[in-house]
Amino acid sequence: MARAKVVWRCASCGHSQSKWAGRCPQCGEWNSLEEGAEQVAAPPSATRSAPVALSDVPLESGGEVRMRTGIQELDTPLGGGVVAGSLVLLGGDPGIGKSTLLLMALDRFARRGLPALYVTGEESAAQVRLRAERLGMIGSSMLVLAETDFEAVDAVVRAQRPVVAVVDSVQTLSLPGVGSAPGSVAQVREVAHRAMLLAKSTGTAIFLVGHINKSGEIAGPKVLEHLVDAVLNFEGDGSSTLRILRAGKNRFGASGELGVFEMGDTGLIEVPDASARLLQERVKGAAGTVVVAAMEGTRPLLAEVQALVGRPGPQTPGRTCVGVDRQRVIMLAAVLEKAGLTLYDRDIFVNAVGGVRLDEPSADLGIAVAIASSLLDRPLPPDLLVFGELGLVGEVRGVSRPEARLREAARHGFTRVIAPHSAGRACPPGLELIGVHSIGEVIAHLGGPEQRRR
Ligand code: TYD
Ligand code: MG
Repeated sequence: MARAKVVWRCASCGHSQSKWAGRCPQCGEWNSLEEGAEQVAAPPSATRSAPVALSDVPLESGGEVRMRTGIQELDTPLGGGVVAGSLVLLGGDPGIGKSTLLLMALDRFARRGLPALYVTGEESAAQVRLRAERLGMIGSSMLVLAETDFEAVDAVVRAQRPVVAVVDSVQTLSLPGVGSAPGSVAQVREVAHRAMLLAKSTGTAIFLVGHINKSGEIAGPKVLEHLVDAVLNFEGDGSSTLRILRAGKNRFGASGELGVFEMGDTGLIEVPDASARLLQERVKGAAGTVVVAAMEGTRPLLAEVQALVGRPGPQTPGRTCVGVDRQRVIMLAAVLEKAGLTLYDRDIFVNAVGGVRLDEPSADLGIAVAIASSLLDRPLPPDLLVFGELGLVGEVRGVSRPEARLREAARHGFTRVIAPHSAGRACPPGLELIGVHSIGEVIAHLGGPEQRRR
């Protein structure tokens, strides 16, 4: 009989190798390699599954069971509600509002007489009660379990069969059988794996809360993304009370769907009209600000992009970006340079206002126009909106769903839109579409490439 092969596995990041080493070559942790037996695949057996023609695969009776939380801005990114037996990871920076959001969701279930369980590994049950009461949940029938041993959580879920359970947080729960410390990658992975088995076998929908650790993402929720059914990220910047809930991966719905909340004294308030909220504090008539229309999932979202181009200085110019990809901004600056604007010796700052992230290429043209507007010190008319993708040779490319973007623009009182030429077909009445083919045309529209006196 072949002997079980010995492997050395890192308790911090899960890396495995055949030889011992003092330091893990993957994560750099010292003394983290532990000896263990290699997990070998199960031998072939008569019960192994056989392939079936796709059309002969029996459909699961009734399909998935969805339960609305009643919080629309949470149900939308989930794909229309919580799916029974699903495992959802809610990630976000500490203090962003993850516990608050899920407590509110559980309370909605409890109010409808559905059993809901909140497992806290971070706070005592009394602290959870105080927090819930501050949020206005008085006399809630929600069950609370203060526990850090996942085996105990497993037993409670199997006995009580809640419809929904929250495990807050995955980093504070652990399994005694796994040798490493709570919060290590090995533990986090194992807890998530067991939570998945628990959800699938009981039909309880389980939310795992995962703190995103900025300094070292090693034990962060990133390692779980492939394991869970859906990933929601709760985002927002420190300066704003806006909170954005974004679906990353979603096995039961579209990814990229968005929910928007405002943080208040008594909890999270839903923001159904995110565009209006994002444009609320806009400064009109200033150079360097542009409104863009992005698609977030199936929803159009109008957002303000601000750019500031600094004076030329002796030091190496920087590109500082918040809410937009820095590499993209460097590329856009190069395209603008080629189109006749001198930017190589200038600092450029770009900010997507309100803590939103504009990763969609349709924001390119808006970002470029904001930079050009700041450089040339020419404000844009307040009723003008810009969208379009920008290619490397300065061409303006078409984007998805132009009609939804244009409709959203018209709905919020915009009367002129600079957009790819092809969007013209989708223009609703009352909106003037300035269809463009290249960045050169857009700069000419701003008032030409001739630069002002430095
Ligand atoms: P919390 O939900 O604990 O964040 P997380 O679980 O992501 O770490 O919220 C952090 C703090 O902010 C907490 O003290 C409560 C407060 N808070 C409000 O006052 N109003 C709100 O709407 C939210 C979301 C939080
Ligand atoms: Mg919390």
